[in-house]
Amino acid sequence: MKNILVTGGAGFIGSNFVHYLLAKYPDYRIVAYDKLTYAGRLENLKPAEGDPRFAFVRGDIADRAAVDAAIRQHQIDTLVNFAAETHVDRSILSSEPFVTNNVAGVTTLLEAAREFKLERFHHISTDEVYGQIPEPKRSREGDPFETRSPYSASKAAAEHFVFAYFVTYGVPVTITRGSNNIGPYHYPEKAVPLFTTNAIDNEPLPVYGDGRQMRDYQYVGDHCEGIDAVLHRGQLGEAYNIATGVETYNIDMARQILDILGKPHSLIKFVPDRAGHDRRYALDVSKAKALGWESRHTFSQALEQTVRWYVDNEWWWRPIKSGEFRAYYEKQYGARLAAAK
Ligand code: NAD
Ligand code: TYD
Repeated sequence: MKNILVTGGAGFIGSNFVHYLLAKYPDYRIVAYDKLTYAGRLENLKPAEGDPRFAFVRGDIADRAAVDAAIRQHQIDTLVNFAAETHVDRSILSSEPFVTNNVAGVTTLLEAAREFKLERFHHISTDEVYGQIPEPKRSREGDPFETRSPYSASKAAAEHFVFAYFVTYGVPVTITRGSNNIGPYHYPEKAVPLFTTNAIDNEPLPVYGDGRQMRDYQYVGDHCEGIDAVLHRGQLGEAYNIATGVETYNIDMARQILDILGKPHSLIKFVPDRAGHDRRYALDVSKAKALGWESRHTFSQALEQTVRWYVDNEWWWRPIKSGEFRAYYEKQYGARLAAAK
């Protein structure tokens, strides 16, 4: 493992993973490959600029010729795939890009991995493949997929192809299923960065439904360490859950953000719920822990660090929130906020 192609490397987790690898492995060469959709941002890769061990290639994972060229040019031996459409709410507005990028795109990458005989194809998946989990159950890696949103359905479909390529063609695959990440460079359509940046501007925090849905919010750096552990010590053909193992209610997450910023709880607005909203995700992480990995930040530590980053890095998120994002925000929240309680 020496020359690593990080697809989706200009997105939130992908860019954090690029910085993580460059810092941890002095002898690795890292190529970020990204289509630069609305969520992909070159600013996320700024800290790697000028590093001779780093290169960026603009390309689509569904474009086989472009993928092949990147693998050939950079003598890639390992591929870690983060590239995807990632927002559940956008998948409800239109599922088509989720099929194209998250399913067809992944099969294209798998074909390339097969032809070039890559040493490893690591795929980034999500706790959402298990569907909503009633308390006190926790999902284990062998549990069935019971997806309910177009986003999670596309991620489950991708995993089926990854396993199929392992069984059918012997492509050396591993998979990680991460819970909700928080941290730097998180596009402000997702709950934590949306609530944080809205709170900074004294704008309402639109909490869906009763706010009693639960998520396991983990620090993105901990997720990167988990991916690293599976990449280096995981068993081929296996999936691993990566999370803190502790869930938080959305309403408590919103209140804690306001408390960190010293803003009033009256900014919280309960808005009409997301269609098919999964109530709870919860992962059993013992399989990843057996590799020697452990989540290091509690939810409160992760949230505090995340909120501080947004306070200190307005240069990063202000241009996003005044661009394409405004039209999306109006479509997603205009009527909802008008009906807010
Ligand atoms: P993101 O939306 O911030 O980034 C996705 C990146 O993929 C963007 O840079 C985008 O330009 C790129 N991309 C999309 N389609 C592409 C294509 N066809 N070709 C090349 N690049 C393309 O997403 P994220 O939050 O960083 O998520 C990364 C991965 O982790 C995804 O696979 C997601 O399903 C998974 N995941 C995310 C979370 C989370 O909490 N964010 C949790 C678990 C798993
Ligand atoms: P999100 O960040 O979109 O991640 P996911 O849906 O993949 O878990 O949402 C996190 C939680 O916050 C989820 O339960 C939905 C909820 N949520 C809101 O209440 N309001 C919002 O405006 C958003 C975007 C999410």
